Amino acid sequence: MQYVFILLVAYLIGSIPSGLIVGKVFYGIDIREHGSGNLGATNSFRTLGKKAGSVVILADILKGTVTIFLPMMFGSELHPLIPGIFAVIGHMFPIFASFRGGKAVATSGGILLGYDPILFISLVVVFLIGLKLSKYVSLSSIIVAIFAIIYSLINMLFTKDYLLFFVVALLAAFVIIRHRTNIKRIRDKTEPKVNWL
Ligand code: G3P
Repeated sequence: MQYVFILLVAYLIGSIPSGLIVGKVFYGIDIREHGSGNLGATNSFRTLGKKAGSVVILADILKGTVTIFLPMMFGSELHPLIPGIFAVIGHMFPIFASFRGGKAVATSGGILLGYDPILFISLVVVFLIGLKLSKYVSLSSIIVAIFAIIYSLINMLFTKDYLLFFVVALLAAFVIIRHRTNIKRIRDKTEPKVNWL
């Protein structure tokens, strides 16, 4: 019963629609009606600007990170990565925003920041290199997802951390599936590039 409670709390934390709150409260804008229509940090940067985008990305990362600590806070033996999965499900399908949420990138990153900071920093570096070279945020996110699978696979061979590999593979699958429209746009050469670096 306690496990269910923790997973529910994680889902509710993940459901907090940072991009929608920042857009509506400070700009009177629903970012889902602008840009890519995605309720995430990239579309917040695109639609609302750097300041708002930075707040949204930090909030979305934090949503993932705090859920890692839920089992400890409630004195539960539940593995810390499990609530993270539910936070990402909340981020993608937020109960507070008609189940129309983001693409799982920042919140997944937040989980890894709390669990394996070295993996998180490596992913940020890979993302920045991908963005510098390709100018596509979406492609860089997909590259990061693939890199994370390879990292956690190699890590598993040495540390036997099977659960990290399983969770990373699941989160990477979420990221890739949520980017299917971006993948189509990249193929059609209609995906917008950014010049942020
Ligand atoms: O994290 C989402 C990003 O990879 C793509 O966002 O708004 O360009 O679809 P967007």
